[in-house]
Amino acid sequence: MSSTPAESTGQTVFLNGEFMPIESARVPVLDRGFIFGDGVYEVVPVYGGRAFRWPQHFARLERSLAKIRLANPRSSQQWTELVAELVRLHPWRDQFVYLQVTRGVAKRDHAFPKGATPTVFAMSSEFVALAPQLREHGVPVVTRPDERWLHCDIKSISLLGNVLARQEAADADAFECVMFRDGFLTEGSSSNIWVVRDGTVFCPPLDRLVLEGIRVGLIGELCAASGTPLEVRRILREEVFAADELMLSSATREVVPITRIDGQAVGSGAPGPVYARLYAAYQAAKAA
Ligand code: PDD
Repeated sequence: MSSTPAESTGQTVFLNGEFMPIESARVPVLDRGFIFGDGVYEVVPVYGGRAFRWPQHFARLERSLAKIRLANPRSSQQWTELVAELVRLHPWRDQFVYLQVTRGVAKRDHAFPKGATPTVFAMSSEFVALAPQLREHGVPVVTRPDERWLHCDIKSISLLGNVLARQEAADADAFECVMFRDGFLTEGSSSNIWVVRDGTVFCPPLDRLVLEGIRVGLIGELCAASGTPLEVRRILREEVFAADELMLSSATREVVPITRIDGQAVGSGAPGPVYARLYAAYQAAKAA
């Protein structure tokens, strides 16, 4: 593995075994990621140089690869070293690392190519914390029908459904788009969604309709540790609108209070006590 130091202004990325400035990284147009969206990815937060919940992220990457029938081109140790090196090459205290594997470069044909070498790409960006006023007041969301495919458990780079949903939020000056399928909550365009009612936290089952967010496991642990009841079950749209509190979670946003949904106040209209408790516990988990 060759490496070059990060330029003072730019990012150094990893592509197929080499580190290089982001401007120099090139992928052939016949890469199946470009042609078919045929690949998977991960987003891993890094705090103080340490990849947070790395074993869980790596395990999910392995599951995503297995589900698209793509052999992992790197060993666990190689991935771990790659992430560590990428983080080391950048000056930011907190970062988030993006990892992507595609089925590689091959003549365009939908069926899997024989003998193609998977494309491995990784980059790190500065982790920019959410603006304090958004934590203080909470964020608005819009809702839409979930029109994505039936394998949302795979962290696929084919994100058109998520992109279109997020744009609906952007068009409405909202922070996130919360999606429903057949009247039940699924997730946000790039986050998991949490409902609080009468002190109990609810989240939808982690089936094929929802990505198994790494923060879902973490928040489950934080609920258990703080004696906050957690119920995993299907959640009706009406229950979401009747919530005392709503929250979203993701690698890049951590846990965020939602205080408006389709223009309507959530509970009191301000971030609630369960959010405050879980956010504090999240910060403590990062520092541990
Ligand atoms: N997205 N659901 C979807 C559809 C997501 O894209 C994400 C994360 C999550 C939350 O998962 P986690 O807690 O592991 O970040 C749920 C990442 C951040 C992204 O695509 O940038």
